[in-house]
Amino acid sequence: MAFMQALPGFRDFLPDDCAARNCIFARWREVARRYGFLEWDGPVLEPTELYKKKSGAEIVDQLFNFIDKGEREVALRPELTPTLARVIAAHEREFKKPLKWFSIGEFYRYEKQQRGRLREHFQLNCDIIGEASLAADVELVALCIDVLRSFGFNEKDFVVRISDRDFWTGFLREKDVSPERWDELLQAIDKSGREPREKTAEKLGKLTDPILSILKSGGKSQRLEQLVGGLRDRGLADYVGIDVSIVRGLAYYTGIVFEVFDRAGRFRAIAGGGRYDNLIAQLSDGAVSIPALGFAMGDVVLGELINETVRAREKLQNAIASSRKIDIYVVIAKEQRRADALAQIQQFRDRGYRVDYPLTSDKVGKQFQTAEQLGAHLALLFGDEWPQVKIKTLASREELLIDNHELQSHIARVLSQSS
Ligand code: HAM
Repeated sequence: MAFMQALPGFRDFLPDDCAARNCIFARWREVARRYGFLEWDGPVLEPTELYKKKSGAEIVDQLFNFIDKGEREVALRPELTPTLARVIAAHEREFKKPLKWFSIGEFYRYEKQQRGRLREHFQLNCDIIGEASLAADVELVALCIDVLRSFGFNEKDFVVRISDRDFWTGFLREKDVSPERWDELLQAIDKSGREPREKTAEKLGKLTDPILSILKSGGKSQRLEQLVGGLRDRGLADYVGIDVSIVRGLAYYTGIVFEVFDRAGRFRAIAGGGRYDNLIAQLSDGAVSIPALGFAMGDVVLGELINETVRAREKLQNAIASSRKIDIYVVIAKEQRRADALAQIQQFRDRGYRVDYPLTSDKVGKQFQTAEQLGAHLALLFGDEWPQVKIKTLASREELLIDNHELQSHIARVLSQSS
């Protein structure tokens, strides 16, 4: 029999996958909060115009867009930055600057499905709005590094490749290239590492040789040196490298840009971001002009890298195991005791404990097996001992009989000591 499948590039999240996803989100959230970022979110559906205006050709080609029943041209969000710019333009006056905001959500791009790239993915977005100084760029890159360190990765596992778009726009200005062509040339530089040389040469024309030689020898920029210096002060310099071949595919970036890769170079980018000092002004037709910078980290490549890095994989598996554990499994050895057991179960759950029990009668041995499988801390046996209840600590196998009336206070004591 053929079962219906999810659409290509879309994932089903079975409980194990959901547990892993929740652990990733919890870590993202925890580190962003450590840096004083506040959580926010926007709608998943936006006017297509929002992306056509500024994201750049690559994203527009990948839009999941359609006409809704009200004849509006709409698109599922492929990224968060245009939504953020729209929201900031409307609400900026309500907040003290700089704003430090993060968001965790799902994004949709009609891409060809391949390793590390799907048609939906989750991103952590972290953005700083209203701060033009390089201190903000240093803080943002440090946050990105610390998010990855929190998963158990170190400087041998990943590298943040930092670049500066001004380096290239300065070069193009020097070569008298008109600004209308900059975008197209920057895209070609961005793709040069992934495309055959002839294709890049076709796009770069007479600039091919000078550009390729800069890419080969590496560029120099004082601002980038300063950025690395700021990270060195924090002991994070080993996590970064200057690499002017990073230009970023999105059109709105204006200054420092960066992408994060695994050191071995096996995967696509884990995260990417940079400065977009003009986007808010452009989207608000000049009404609000405010500098901004940010990055997004996706869950797909991150998940692959976690799986292939023993340290990170074990850390995630431990986090999943402890997130699943329950406090109490109630073993109903005699069906006459079911009502008494349920009265206690209700109270335990009201107190916030995680409690499970068999919905229908089952052999006592099987019930203990289930208790073990669920990682229960305690098993409570309701049976022949009534009105006493047998408490078994599953790890130590210790057993104790407690009067039913004292059960709640006794368990509260035991579980508060163990947590
Ligand atoms: P981006 O480089 O397009 O940047 O995406 C950021 C990350 O999202 C990528 O490094 C990758 O991990 C993940 N990602 C992107 N597309 C896919 C896909 N099709 N499948 C799986 N993962 C994917 C942005 O989105 C910018 N808006 C980031 C930003 C925030 N810039 C400033 N603030």
